Amino acid sequence: MAIARNAAQGLRERIPEPTAAEREVADLLPIDADPDRARLAIERVPLWFHTFSLDGGSLYTSGVARDHRYRLPALSQDLTGLRVLDVGTFDGFYAFLAEARGAARVVAVDNEQYRDWVSSRWGVELEGGEGFEAIAELLGSRVEYRRLDAYDLDTLRERFDLVLCFGILHRVESPLGLLAVLRRRLADGGRVVLETYGVGDSSLETRSAIHVCEPGEVYARDDFVYWGFTATSLDRLARHAGFAGFRSLAAPTVDGRPRIIGELAV
Ligand SMILES: C[S@@+](CC[C@H](N)C(=O)[O-])C[C@H]1O[C@@H](n2cnc3c(N)ncnc32)[C@H](O)[C@@H]1O
Repeated sequence: MAIARNAAQGLRERIPEPTAAEREVADLLPIDADPDRARLAIERVPLWFHTFSLDGGSLYTSGVARDHRYRLPALSQDLTGLRVLDVGTFDGFYAFLAEARGAARVVAVDNEQYRDWVSSRWGVELEGGEGFEAIAELLGSRVEYRRLDAYDLDTLRERFDLVLCFGILHRVESPLGLLAVLRRRLADGGRVVLETYGVGDSSLETRSAIHVCEPGEVYARDDFVYWGFTATSLDRLARHAGFAGFRSLAAPTVDGRPRIIGELAV
């Protein structure tokens, strides 16, 4: 069962119930909370981005993010001992998953820019960080959350073996600037798993093209999606930023939108 807040609660855009696809991803992190605590957690968060499995497979948050199954092959089952950085974490699903898979230290950062597009898209006002906090409490998690802009990551003064950069490169004004700061935070032998918006045009795939989106083109009333990338354009940006390149792992269409995921290694 999932509890969604829909038209009856005055949302501008319907929040779908999680399908089997979202539940399959959520089930990788079974939280197993007491049902009353799980319900309280759901109620205190006005909108969820990620779908979480709260009480062993019957109660799920109604996350607005759709079908992340294509990301799973890019995530190692065993992260024992690694230092992991999750950039643009939102509710933190991937940071908590890294912790559950054995990471020694996980830092999750977000500048909470999502408050603007959640407000314009759904008419919901978030304080910022409430979904992350609710799940951290249920899990008794040690993941460290920082409200921080990705361009200020150097203030962390530590380096990471694995950096997760999901769903954010197309939302920043300077993609090359973001890749350069990620490169500086990477430990020797480390890698970045990068997921972003694609171009959805097979004639462009082999070219170093970057699609510039119309405001609201990708999600209605969300003016913060600026770019779509090909594997070739990501590879060139990666090399400008000091990586060896971008290795594409998958470029699926999800919910009618092109996505691309791959690895940046040094
Ligand atoms: C679409 S969500 C993706 C959430 C999660 N990483 C995922 O893919 O499942 C993008 C996130 O990046 C954050 N973000 C955007 N620009 C950022 C920046 N410059 N620094 C830190 N976070 C940023 C947003 O606030 C939002 O939480």
